[in-house]
Amino acid sequence: MSAHDVEAAPACTLFLFGANGDLVKRLLMPALYNLSRDGLLDKRLRIVGVDHNPATDSAFAERLEAFMRERDKGEGATTHLDDKVWKRLAKGIGYLTGDFLEPATYQAIAERIENNRTGNAIFYLATSPRFFSGVVQQLGAAGLLDEANGFRRVVVEKPFGSDLASAEALNACLLKVMNEKQIYRIDHYLGKETVQNILVSRFSNGLFEAFWNNHYIDHVQITAAETVGVETRGAFYDTTGALRDMVPNHLFQLLAMVAMEPPAAFGADAVRSEKAKVIGAIRPWSKAMALKNSVRGQYTAGKQGRKKLAGYREEPRVDPDSQTETYVALKVMIDNWRWVGVPFYLRTGKRMSVRDTEIAICFKPAPYAQFRDSDAERPKPNYLKIQIQPNEGMWFDLQAKRPGPTLAMENVELGFAYKDFFKMQPSTGYETLIYDCLTGDQTLFQRADNIENGWRAVQPFLDAWAQGGEVQPYAAGEDGPEAADELLARDRRVWHSIG
Ligand code: BG6
Repeated sequence: MSAHDVEAAPACTLFLFGANGDLVKRLLMPALYNLSRDGLLDKRLRIVGVDHNPATDSAFAERLEAFMRERDKGEGATTHLDDKVWKRLAKGIGYLTGDFLEPATYQAIAERIENNRTGNAIFYLATSPRFFSGVVQQLGAAGLLDEANGFRRVVVEKPFGSDLASAEALNACLLKVMNEKQIYRIDHYLGKETVQNILVSRFSNGLFEAFWNNHYIDHVQITAAETVGVETRGAFYDTTGALRDMVPNHLFQLLAMVAMEPPAAFGADAVRSEKAKVIGAIRPWSKAMALKNSVRGQYTAGKQGRKKLAGYREEPRVDPDSQTETYVALKVMIDNWRWVGVPFYLRTGKRMSVRDTEIAICFKPAPYAQFRDSDAERPKPNYLKIQIQPNEGMWFDLQAKRPGPTLAMENVELGFAYKDFFKMQPSTGYETLIYDCLTGDQTLFQRADNIENGWRAVQPFLDAWAQGGEVQPYAAGEDGPEAADELLARDRRVWHSIG
């Protein structure tokens, strides 16, 4: 996240491992195209897809182009392909057929770097996670991570581990062959403008600091509701579940943005240290408390409008007796001075009624019931809603007097919608992340301690659930199981309505 006007990133050879996978064609190539459109890539950038299926350089480039052109026609296009821009980018696209675990692949990679003469190289692991450590070991063994002749960086996609022990083991494996400054652990939520804006809003508007603490804030709700089901990812999802898929990464990153202390400087180390501290301050629940403070749900057959939707257990490649959660709601506490006593309620689920990723900050009520004997006697709490997607912006709920002879109150909203102020170009959310990796800015990437602290906070839930218990059903198209409402009702609170 560069603070100043941007210039083209330095030249390098960018190797995309897992070149034939979804991530490359749906997100990485469109993002590279958008960067090229904006003049942010060096003319000598080479993009080399690496995968086991044979293909030529031009066949690979043509396939990507065809896919992107098709997507441009649909809703939610992330590029608008212009022939001139595409041709310029396509000139630098190549392909290398190779087995990820064979040394010969890495000799061929070394030759490509040699040919490009910049010496700089980035290795982007867009593969299945089972290859992460193998590829990195091979890169190390082939001497490709040695920075004597240019920078060498490795981008690691999510999921980074599946629990604390596996995340620690993966970090150890990476740090054996390179140093932390070479590692870019991606969480695509950090590429979203609205997520980056949380820090800017908090730390460049003096107003917020005055009430951003447990004196004025009653509790915080973080929601990532999706309308999609597991689609074609049944096999992956059934061994993963909503908790691992969304909480230690995306939801904790949102929590960190809201809850971290102001960093001493706006640099990668300072920002990431504050994030690691606040995630590290999440209270580790005992197993009993983890059970009490969590709800697992799984969608059953239901409807979205008139469309009938299958239940999770009927989805392709999902165990028909699966106990994997597609919804999770949690209560977590942050043990530090700013947040002591302020619960953070987190929820995420597939096949909910609307797509909505938002943070709702609920303020404490006015200290005294000023307007007795009126319906205004019990004013509603004020919320600040930070909506990450789809309608990006911030809204503040206030109470106002409804015009008329009686004293009646109504909720009104002060709002800022991104689309009203800024012209937004189509984008994937990966543009900033790729640009930052090319320029060596690690601010928006996760450091090892950040990841491990996240898993440490999630581990008690995994351990408690491993001892049994059933997922709670909710109908597809609805907002999670009743038990999630009870989680808040117990504390005399309710979920902020989504959408
Ligand atoms: C991914 C998860 O990391 O994030 C998916 O694996 C989820 O299951 C996705 O759908 C959500 O991302 P976004 O950007 O659509 O909110």
